[in-house]
Amino acid sequence: MPNTPFPPPTSFPKTQIKVLLLENVHASAHELFDAEGFQVEALGHALKDDELAAKIENVHVLGIRSKTQVRAPVLAKAKRLLSLGCFCIGTNQVELDDANRRGVPVFNAPFSNTRSVAEMILAEIVVLSRQIGDRSREVHEGVWKKTAAGCHEVRGKTLGLIGYGHIGRQLGVVAESLGMRVVFYDIATRLPMGNNRPVPALGELLEQSDFVSLHVPETAATKGMIGPEELSRMKKGAHLLNASRGTVVQIPALAEALKKKHLAGAAIDVFPEEPEENGPGFASELRGVPNVLLTPHIGGSTLEAQEAIGKEVAVSLIRYVNTGATTGAVNFPQVEVPAPKPRTHRILNVHKNVPGVLRDINRIVSERNANIESQILSTDNQIGYLMMDIAHDVAEDVRADIAALETNIRTRILY
Ligand code: NAI
Repeated sequence: MPNTPFPPPTSFPKTQIKVLLLENVHASAHELFDAEGFQVEALGHALKDDELAAKIENVHVLGIRSKTQVRAPVLAKAKRLLSLGCFCIGTNQVELDDANRRGVPVFNAPFSNTRSVAEMILAEIVVLSRQIGDRSREVHEGVWKKTAAGCHEVRGKTLGLIGYGHIGRQLGVVAESLGMRVVFYDIATRLPMGNNRPVPALGELLEQSDFVSLHVPETAATKGMIGPEELSRMKKGAHLLNASRGTVVQIPALAEALKKKHLAGAAIDVFPEEPEENGPGFASELRGVPNVLLTPHIGGSTLEAQEAIGKEVAVSLIRYVNTGATTGAVNFPQVEVPAPKPRTHRILNVHKNVPGVLRDINRIVSERNANIESQILSTDNQIGYLMMDIAHDVAEDVRADIAALETNIRTRILY
């Protein structure tokens, strides 16, 4: 059974809930939906707009990865859609604002591959420090070049983390187990893990670190944040690693710093422009530069991460269907729901966020002489999301009255 917090009530038999999974979503998700008794149709490929529009009318839960586009015309056809899951990190393939207006929460899995990224960076730190990438290539080419020149242990060296969120923190902990000293810089105050130490300014981190690793999001402030000036502040012989976002590092400036031998190496997993399809023809100023590891955005790409993503998103979708919880939704007011009390039904209402809605709803409840056992309202600019547990004998009438309000977007009841 999935990790749902309490026995789930549903508005109609679970066997009538239709789940459509596209793009080879991991079997871990399929298994969780099966265990709930939902009907699952799983396809190995993405659907084009018109194909999805033709299919979505009877779908209650849609699961996609990064290729399927879910735009307003498709959402307009999704009359029964309760919720949408992006089994990946990014959600810009979905028109989130339109889904919000239509009362459809969208979930993703932002942290299921945290560990995978941290492990890859840790490995790259050692590989760079020993120039293993170059030695391996030489031996593949039949060249024997046994040397210790420029090769170091990482024990006792300083790792500087820019961005101390999920990945930065995880990496900071595992790097200490190799005997590294870890410092970090973040714009937010972050609790240091283990013996990791914050530094007050980016410049200080650059000056102290033998390895600088970036773990920031793409924002106006992080775009191009590592350019000629920052690179020149790094120690001579230091290394730069970027598995965050491609726009954070100015690649021509990095290529220059490496070619001048100011930096001893770099590992780059993300690029300002990345090809949509696998294949030859990738261009970068960094190609062929010694002791530079180039990887095709695979920091989070492990089978463990795929499985974790399948579970994380499926659990969020199942919890929403069964209980109404929206915790973690990327486009929706957050409501964490209590366990239902005996002899109550739960009403879940999405409404336009205009003044007076709660007053209207409470009027309906008091006209029915009903007792509200729990009520939680959360709003954003466009909508309000209300969860209300109410005496079971009047709940269906209350639901019908709320659904008839002009401000109603969607209302459902969990028996
Ligand atoms: P997170 O949101 O947990 O942490 C980001 C941290 O950066 C936060 O602590 C934030 O306060 C800090 N930050 C924001 N702006 C900053 C600035 N200007 N200076 C310093 N710190 C700043 O994110 P998470 O999960 O750790 O991911 C980090 C990055 O890794 C993201 O860009 C994400 O897209 C990328 N990523 C890359 C993957 C890959 O395959 N290469 C896989 C997964 C994530």
